[in-house]
Amino acid sequence: MDLSTIRHPVADDSKAVDALILRRLESDVVLINQIGHYIVNSGGKRLRPLSVLLAARACGYGGEHHIDLAAIVEFIHTSTLLHDDVIDNSEMRRNRETANAVWGNEASVLVGDFLYSRAFEMMVDVGSMRVMEVLAHATNRIAAGEVLQLLNARDADTDEARYMEVIERKTATLFAAGTRLGAILAETSPEIEAALDSYGLNLGIAFQLIDDALDYSTNNESLDKNVGDDLDEGKPTLPLIRAMAVGTAEQRAMLRDCIEHGGRERIDAVIEAIASTDAIAYTGDLAKRHAAKARKALDVLDPSPARDAMATLADFAVSRSY
Ligand code: IPE
Ligand code: IPE
Ligand code: MG
Ligand code: MG
Repeated sequence: MDLSTIRHPVADDSKAVDALILRRLESDVVLINQIGHYIVNSGGKRLRPLSVLLAARACGYGGEHHIDLAAIVEFIHTSTLLHDDVIDNSEMRRNRETANAVWGNEASVLVGDFLYSRAFEMMVDVGSMRVMEVLAHATNRIAAGEVLQLLNARDADTDEARYMEVIERKTATLFAAGTRLGAILAETSPEIEAALDSYGLNLGIAFQLIDDALDYSTNNESLDKNVGDDLDEGKPTLPLIRAMAVGTAEQRAMLRDCIEHGGRERIDAVIEAIASTDAIAYTGDLAKRHAAKARKALDVLDPSPARDAMATLADFAVSRSY
């Protein structure tokens, strides 16, 4: 299963989104263009715009505003990545040095703000109060999620519930808003709108669970960022939480210490401890359950190639290696 198959029902729309992203990246300030093009041209899977396009089409939308909303969602995502890599001290993103590694933290944060506010300008152009409401609420919830995550950092007592709260907010919220917007554009019933939100939410949860498992993967040539960033920051993600719960007393003590002090020096021992437990399978199973919920939410829609692609996208979120 690859992304081009999933993209097929909205291939033309996707091209239009890519063109719009490039067009709206423009600024009269050279550094903004430099950093903006640097991160946008380095690729990225463009899953969020893809899910917006598919949701709109699967709900029977025939207009063009889904192109704008897809680009808006990708701008918001890209701005959070610029900020996230500063906060996480990350050095690699999309197979390149991060913008903060090349231009420094200040420039990354400010260009992130530029993209974020550009997204809001584009939203106003769409001219729907409902769209504004959903995206304003989503971005606020994402920001709160990032702060919650900050509070959990280096806290080895973070439990699964607190972890889930963070990933739902910081990652799943944007997917949920995007797919809900597809339904809003199509002027569906409240029931369908809620189902599309549930699809995006569960897709996003599954996606972040796998992201957190991938951060401890070995021999993964396809991953386009460095493994071990979460450990370095002392982030108590599910693979660690689970390994502490079921590992030996010795492993538990070592993992606690790694979370509390951060750093990647003991990454090999941590990966070994994780591998000696069911932590990765446990994380993957939870992701599978959320992907199944996402697929189930699609039952309210009439069959269509776009709906099928959304189901396949939920599978991709779990089976992906990048
Ligand atoms: C990275 O998202 C941030 C997370 C929510 C895990 P993606 O893996 O979708 O990033 P790109 O856009 O494809 O690089
Ligand atoms: C993604 O979390 C946070 C955002 C929603 C931006 P991560 O910190 O796990 O993302 P990566 O692994 O750096 O892409
Ligand atoms: Mg990060
Ligand atoms: Mg990650």
